[in-house]
Amino acid sequence: MRARIVATGSAVPRRILRNSDLERMVATSDAWIVGRTGIRERRIVDDGVASSDLGTDAARAALAASRWDPADLDLILVATCTPDMPLPSTACLIQRNLKASRAIAFDLAAACSGFLYGLSVADLYVRSGTCRRVLLVGTEVMSSVLDWTDRSTCILFGDGAGAALLEPSDDDRGVLSTHLHSDGNLWDLVCVPGGGSRMPASDAMLAGRQQYVKMKGNETFRVAVKTLEATAREALEANKLEVADVDLFIPHQANVRIIQAVMERLGLPQDRVFLNMDRYGNTSAASIPLALDEAVRTGRISPGSRILMVAFGSGLTWASAVVKW
Ligand code: ACO
Repeated sequence: MRARIVATGSAVPRRILRNSDLERMVATSDAWIVGRTGIRERRIVDDGVASSDLGTDAARAALAASRWDPADLDLILVATCTPDMPLPSTACLIQRNLKASRAIAFDLAAACSGFLYGLSVADLYVRSGTCRRVLLVGTEVMSSVLDWTDRSTCILFGDGAGAALLEPSDDDRGVLSTHLHSDGNLWDLVCVPGGGSRMPASDAMLAGRQQYVKMKGNETFRVAVKTLEATAREALEANKLEVADVDLFIPHQANVRIIQAVMERLGLPQDRVFLNMDRYGNTSAASIPLALDEAVRTGRISPGSRILMVAFGSGLTWASAVVKW
């Protein structure tokens, strides 16, 4: 039996960082940021708030929507590239916060594709009969890895979290397909070079600002358009669907120009594409579940809706999922 999403939740920090605020921090302008990315503002955590805090809030919102008891959870999967600390996993910290005493918990690292990678793992655990009740969280404090003096990256990202609860489906609804891809040859398109075992924390590492996101923006843009189109077509073909059969397309919210290019190539009309990056920026693994939850709460998704989700991110990773609601 495939897995079905029974509830969603999300959480974002209250603090808003607008493009006008960034104009005072680096040499940029609201017009440049909106024109090149579609982003108008993003949410940023207060000092001391970590990924497990946002992830716990998103999970609690999903649990409240489903009326599940945390003690019923079998598995907690957390997709993040900004864990609270190298160890333990952010999933174990969320498990502790929720008092989900029975659940096994682990993190998944696939950057912006993390939620769709997690959806695939959750679906396989459910299909195999190993777990019945799964909490999947995508959570990021991207502000913790941003160089606020680098205008080419600091304008792009934001903080947030989204969560989904899954259980076995007893009808034709649920996760119809997932397709995952990776290409480690492209590891340096988007990376945080310092702070791991390759370049442990040191004065020299900090002085070289290696603890922050480095990105080859132009190249990433080109690869993103190509891979997103290809993975969307792969998903449609596997399900014998046409573009017209998709009720809602939820792409990773990285850059509106990437999404427009993919929409044009696929022939997808604007009214079937969900966009919220203008308010949150790129929240990496939180981007798709944050959008999914907003789409549910605003009535863009109803029972029977067919949803196509696509993502790409550091790794390089890219992925798609088709879900019947
Ligand atoms: N404000 C003003 N000017 C800027 C800014 C800024 N914030 N940033 C860069 N510029 C300048 C550059 O210095 C350059 O100036 P120059 O021509 O004098 O050299 C000019 O603008 C053009 O720069 P490009 O990098 O060519 O601009 P581009 O149109 O490619 O847009 C952007 C840059 C927005 C980063 C785009 O390349 C992009 O979105 N790429 C994809 C990024 C992405 O999706 N990353 C997600 C990976 S997520 C993950 O895995 C965590």
